[in-house]
Amino acid sequence: MERLIVKGGSSLKGRTRISGAKNAALPMLAATLLTGGEFTFTNVPMLHDVTTLVMLLKDLGVDADLSPGSSSCVLRIDSSSLSKYEASYELVRQMRASILVLGPLMAREGQARVSLPGGCAIGARPIDFHLKGLELMGAKLKLEEGYVEAKAARLNGAHIYFDVPSVTGTENLMMAAVTARGKTTLENAAREPEVTALGNMLRKMGAKIKGLGTETISIEGVRYLNPTECDIIPDRIEAGTFMMAVAAAGGKVLIEDVIPGHLDAVISKLRVAGLHLDVDNDRILVKKRGKLKSIDIKTLPYPGFPTDLQAQMMAIMCLASGLSVITETIFENRFMHVAELRRLGAEIKVEGRSAIIRGVKGLKGAQVMATDLRASACLVLAGLAAKGPTIISGLQHLDRGYEAMDKKLAALGANISRVNE
Ligand code: EPU
Repeated sequence: MERLIVKGGSSLKGRTRISGAKNAALPMLAATLLTGGEFTFTNVPMLHDVTTLVMLLKDLGVDADLSPGSSSCVLRIDSSSLSKYEASYELVRQMRASILVLGPLMAREGQARVSLPGGCAIGARPIDFHLKGLELMGAKLKLEEGYVEAKAARLNGAHIYFDVPSVTGTENLMMAAVTARGKTTLENAAREPEVTALGNMLRKMGAKIKGLGTETISIEGVRYLNPTECDIIPDRIEAGTFMMAVAAAGGKVLIEDVIPGHLDAVISKLRVAGLHLDVDNDRILVKKRGKLKSIDIKTLPYPGFPTDLQAQMMAIMCLASGLSVITETIFENRFMHVAELRRLGAEIKVEGRSAIIRGVKGLKGAQVMATDLRASACLVLAGLAAKGPTIISGLQHLDRGYEAMDKKLAALGANISRVNE
């Protein structure tokens, strides 16, 4: 079993490059199913989730070739040979985002059979919005043996309202709508940069989409789409995590290849907490001077503070002066890291959807278990700040969504190593 051993006490120094965004890459790769032809993606992060989606695409009959580029990966996909319309339980079970093949398969094949994802460590995470949206577009749905089976000769445009903005829900229905007959309007749609990145790719393919980045997205169905070339946008969650790593360990780091505009809420909160951030075009210089101040955080859909940085923020608030309250409004069970942080000496009380954190003088290393992707990053940050070794297991979660996080931190001077026991 692999574990990370993090020894706190070394401050971070140097520069680090942010990888392509996992949550942009996944829907964009799924969008290759919309039409047959050769697609090329650059700045693809080498992550377990990306490999899982490539496996799923191959299982559907698509050709894919992932080759390392100079500092990232180039992925070529030829979707001409699509021969299946089923996403198996085996693959969906490994990664919930596999549900993203549902919309494009319906658009191209008029049928899809996709295993229902089930709950996960951070919440129940239903997909009812995806399914209701497809029904409104005229699809007939059936649930059989844990699979959703959908059929429609051709989807029709529809007016679809989301009770709460859903990232993959918006992405799936946007992909379903691009070749539907007539106009689709998505109201209360997600505004995350990853949704916009997918929308921009679809537009390059010939789709007619308006309102990207706003809560009303309208799509005029077209008959044909073309394959295209795409560069994956930088991962704002990885960038935020590295900013918080400096907050945890101290030091001065230049974060490169980032879009600061995607991180407005995070930058603003970290500044209030006392971190120094010099923002340039595509770089952020992060400096820590002195102790951080406690702040309150509420996770919200974009442009609010992202739930995917809540756990990491909690790790640094454990050492801030005073009391902070972190409220999680997106997922009902995203506090699994609290029990692990307590093992390091953190003082945290959970009341409903809020965690109340009293900053302590110091954390002390211990053995901890990562329960999900962002919880694993939170434990790495806590380890950077703790005295003595923190031994983290459950690394399969970290590797799903962070490209070589341990190597990048080690290059900045962190005392971190991966051992196989
Ligand atoms: N929801 C429903 N019904 C649905 C869909 C969503 O009730 O049909 C609810 C969810 O339970 C949740 C809220 O709507 O309370 C928002 O969930 P959303 O659908 O936006 O989440 P998601 O699309 O499944 C994506 C990211 C997550 C990220 C969330 C929120 C991808 C592949 N995943 O998930 O990323 O936390 O949006 O921003 O884009 C991660 O990277 O660690 C991760 C979990």
